[in-house]
Amino acid sequence: MPRIRQSIHGEWSSRWTFILAATGSAVGLGNIWRFPYLTAENGGGAFVFIYLACVAVIGIPVLMAEIMIGRRGRQSPINTMETLAIEAGDNPHWRLLGWFGVIAGFLILSYYSVIGGWTISYVLYTASNSFENATADGVNTIFTNLVSSPGTLIAWHSVFMLLAIIVVARGVKAGLEVAVKFMMPSLFIMLLILVGYSTTTGEFAHAIDYLFTFDMDTLSARPGSIILAAMGQAFFSLSLGMGAIMVYGSYLPHDASIFKASLGIAFADTLVAVLAGLAIFPIVFAYNMEPNEGSGLIFKTLPIAFGQMPGGSFFGAMFFLLLAFAAWTSAISLIEPAVAWLVENKNLKRRYAASYIGIACWFLGLLTVFSFNSLSDFHPLEFIDQFGSLGKKNIFDLIDGLTSNIMLPLGGIFVSIFAIYVMSREATRDELDMGDSIAYKVWRVLVMIAPITVGVVFLHAIGILG
Ligand code: PHE
Repeated sequence: MPRIRQSIHGEWSSRWTFILAATGSAVGLGNIWRFPYLTAENGGGAFVFIYLACVAVIGIPVLMAEIMIGRRGRQSPINTMETLAIEAGDNPHWRLLGWFGVIAGFLILSYYSVIGGWTISYVLYTASNSFENATADGVNTIFTNLVSSPGTLIAWHSVFMLLAIIVVARGVKAGLEVAVKFMMPSLFIMLLILVGYSTTTGEFAHAIDYLFTFDMDTLSARPGSIILAAMGQAFFSLSLGMGAIMVYGSYLPHDASIFKASLGIAFADTLVAVLAGLAIFPIVFAYNMEPNEGSGLIFKTLPIAFGQMPGGSFFGAMFFLLLAFAAWTSAISLIEPAVAWLVENKNLKRRYAASYIGIACWFLGLLTVFSFNSLSDFHPLEFIDQFGSLGKKNIFDLIDGLTSNIMLPLGGIFVSIFAIYVMSREATRDELDMGDSIAYKVWRVLVMIAPITVGVVFLHAIGILG
């Protein structure tokens, strides 16, 4: 019989809280800010299609594996990996996978917080009517002014980081439940309103075509980088490969179905991303904007809609506020693995652990702040010619690409290997509680294949496989 472990950090009050919290982690800037601009950067439909395929065949199985490992280990990812490896008679160095995730989460939060800061500042812009009847140029200027002012960016970055520290310090469960229960559905409704507005722009059909037509020509121009970006986005959006979902799984009560929860989380996450695309692209086309606006895309498009619609300053402020909340509930999951470890191993109080990590991350975030102004032309990898576009990326782009496209999928490879080859079949079957059903077998096969799929994408991306 498996030992039923208890987490020293407590448990979610029910499986619903877990689903909400995990959805809170998954749904965030990744869906509404990152997904649309990556779609544009990678030419639309083909990217979207590959992203959706990655969610289905890699994302959901790995999501289940992470929740399962977390619940079985009941500790921070670092200690969970070590405990479960020892239990299976394998090498305790599997803990390094936990460390790898902690580093990835730390790097991601450093820039996530800066973009979270943009979002908060947009609550104020919209609320103060700055966008009323604004033209595309006017909206563009407001964004450019914001990002070219390091002082303002640092101020908002600080506010966002502080908010993340406060929640993690109080324990992820207190406060989070309310935030997720009300904010998530409201954000969803706001998105529907925006999509509704976008249907009136006259370019809705164009957007559908852009998002959902698989265009082989775009794909074949640079398949490696498009596929890599789509796969990276699947990992990023589902919060996979770095321990966030694993640590949340460690607080999950035993009677909850991991399979159903995973399907629900993945569905909600994907739906929000698709809705964001449907809200944004009609505006892009209606105002003759270049879709490939880079990371400022939503900040340069949505305010136009808010500036036109009746009650726009209210809806706009609500939208950015809810987006800031969604970002907040994701941010806390980015440092929770590290904080849980400090509490377990260094006997630190949560509030100190959260503060130390948050402050260190804040400093790292300055690199992102300056990537949009004084360091915008600093391309650290310029000297490596053979990497082509890598040589044109600034520090923010590099941190973002390194974490989403390399670290998270790599984490996913090892999580999969662990779930299949280190944990016994009996242990996974017991924890997933699906018996020997077809669903369990399909899961096993998909997790077994996941490292190969990810590996093939990597090889494509570096040009070894055509
Ligand atoms: N999934 C979050 C989003 O889409 C970002 C995130 C990535 C959170 C990795 C935790 C871990 O915004």
